[in-house]
Amino acid sequence: MNENLLKIAEKLISTGSLSTTEYEFLIDNRNTEIAEILKNEAVKKRKEVYGNTVFIRGLIEISNICKNDCLYCGIRASNKSCDRYRLTKEEILSCCDEGYSLGFRTFVMQGGEDLHFTDEILVDIVKSIKEKYPDCAVTLSLGERSRESYQKLYDAGADRYLLRHETADEEHYSKLHPNKMSYKTRMECLKNLKEIGYQTGCGFMVGSPYQTTENLAKDLKFIEEFSPEMCGIGPFIPHVATEFRDFSSGDVELTCYLLSIIRLIKPTILLPATTALGTAEQGGREKGILCGANVIMPNLSPHSVRKKYELYNNKLISGNESAQEIENLKNSMKNIGYEIVTDRGDIKEN
Ligand code: 5AD
Repeated sequence: MNENLLKIAEKLISTGSLSTTEYEFLIDNRNTEIAEILKNEAVKKRKEVYGNTVFIRGLIEISNICKNDCLYCGIRASNKSCDRYRLTKEEILSCCDEGYSLGFRTFVMQGGEDLHFTDEILVDIVKSIKEKYPDCAVTLSLGERSRESYQKLYDAGADRYLLRHETADEEHYSKLHPNKMSYKTRMECLKNLKEIGYQTGCGFMVGSPYQTTENLAKDLKFIEEFSPEMCGIGPFIPHVATEFRDFSSGDVELTCYLLSIIRLIKPTILLPATTALGTAEQGGREKGILCGANVIMPNLSPHSVRKKYELYNNKLISGNESAQEIENLKNSMKNIGYEIVTDRGDIKEN
């Protein structure tokens, strides 16, 4: 084993902090032996904080209408073949109803940047969910909004907000997004969310087009410095109706390696084994949990719209991905030594 590599790994394990160059070295020199070491240490840390529990979130995909045109995304505005839909308040509440009886205590409302969802409309929905289910957390994942808007939604009762930073490198960001979108705005949004008091989640795709090891190292440094409560990472998976159709998918092993590293950077972080990870490889989410992830977000959207929320091709929508199959998911977690719990699943701060 490369002595330098081991030294850097030990530094990460004991301090949770490396320089960008050291992160880069750790990624570039990845081998099965070092991956195993980091995985074991990551699991040890997650068990100290969360035991063998796995938190679940009911994911409600409220709209696939989006004003943005992110080059990687299947629901980008310019995809004319996307069959658009938007859920009504009643439909969203009935998803929550079903989710609550299935044991979900967090509802994630995710959607494209759909201008229909004004502050007024969202405030009303968030308030209604919180009134009906005061013991549940509401997470929003609705893209970039003004600080005032984030504040209003927070005041209405929203607890958490997910907004992936996508890449912590400005130049790389510009290769993944149209000119209208900016890295600075994205970072500003994340800062606002945190300042307002949301449990805030960032995240990125592994193996996105033009991504370099240095980009990934910057992502890790960003996570270390921003210290988000949540972080969603998953492999990039191409969608045929995007310019990135011919790029290859991100690597599952690298994604799992990064999950372990992120757990070591911040032992308390809420870290999902994502749908993309499960889509890229059968058993991918179990692998993610075994590498230090502690959250799973099954799909709670109405069955009739699931196929339409296609961020990437072949996105899992049935089997253990489906909230209705929670018993199967519980069993598959049990088989690897973990237990799904009925809990809001807030971050355990030190
Ligand atoms: N492959 C993997 N993940 C994707 N996302 C969007 N498009 C893709 C894709 N083609 C991710 C983005 C976004 C989140 C909702 O889904 O990181 O923030």
